[in-house]
Amino acid sequence: MKLQGKTILLTGGTDGIGLRLARQLRDKGASLIVTGRTPARIEAARAEGFEVIPADLAGPAGIEAVLAGLGERSIDILVNNAGMGADHDFRIAPPVAEDDERTLWLNLHAPIRLIGALMPTLRARPEAMIVNVTSGLAIAPSAGAPLYCATKAALRSYTQGLRAQLKGTGIHVLEALPPVVDTQMTAAMGGSKLTPEACARQIIAAMEGSKNEANVGMVKFLRAVYSISPALARSIMLRF
Ligand SMILES: NC(=O)c1ccc[n+]([C@@H]2O[C@H](COP(=O)([O-])OP(=O)(O)OC[C@H]3O[C@@H](n4cnc5c(N)ncnc54)[C@H](OP(=O)(O)O)[C@@H]3O)[C@@H](O)[C@H]2O)c1
Repeated sequence: MKLQGKTILLTGGTDGIGLRLARQLRDKGASLIVTGRTPARIEAARAEGFEVIPADLAGPAGIEAVLAGLGERSIDILVNNAGMGADHDFRIAPPVAEDDERTLWLNLHAPIRLIGALMPTLRARPEAMIVNVTSGLAIAPSAGAPLYCATKAALRSYTQGLRAQLKGTGIHVLEALPPVVDTQMTAAMGGSKLTPEACARQIIAAMEGSKNEANVGMVKFLRAVYSISPALARSIMLRF
């Protein structure tokens, strides 16, 4: 898909992978409307010239805020990028129900609600796209973050069903599966990490190529292992 001239709503566009996506998509000639939550990040994104709709998408009020901020404007592309995930170990502590609810909301309910609400405007466009950012962990979970992996696997499954339903319409559905990327989300992790700039570049290449999946960086290898042996892929990933 040609990105020049497209209007894009991008959630979580004030930091991390989302901010790099916003910058690079703007460089391609797209108009960006991004969402974010933290006031300082919102101001910084506005200082870069982005339109920002403040919204906490870990609950229904955030959806209302985004839709109110959009008003009657139509969009061509919806990028469901905002997400969060924390490690949790039942052997150490019980889960905090409120934290789990927020993770479920942000990672799963919010994309589904936004897709539902914006489907009429997307269908009215000559060509449109929905991009759902999941994770390599949607293919095979790690042991460290069961709920995070479950939300990403659920969004991957939803994305595949949605793509099948929208085949033949003007709406293309892309799933972006990042590997470990150097953002706030992974600040506490060691090991090698892809830069958010490189991650964004690969996602945008998949958008331009109208691919079904952007298997970013090392996720390509995980995907290849999974296609040969799902059990092997799972046993490798569950070590983490
Ligand atoms: N980093 C990785 O290694 C990695 C790997 C695989 C997949 N992913 C996925 O990639 C996406 C982006 O991750 P990232 O690493 O770029 O995360 P990040 O650096 O933490 O940035 C997340 C963005 O979402 C916003 N956000 C966070 N909580 C929000 C909430 N409750 N409501 C609305 N916006 C919220 C953040 O801004 P505020 O906090 O100011 O709201 C920020 O703009 C996520 O879906 C994540 O699951 C990341």
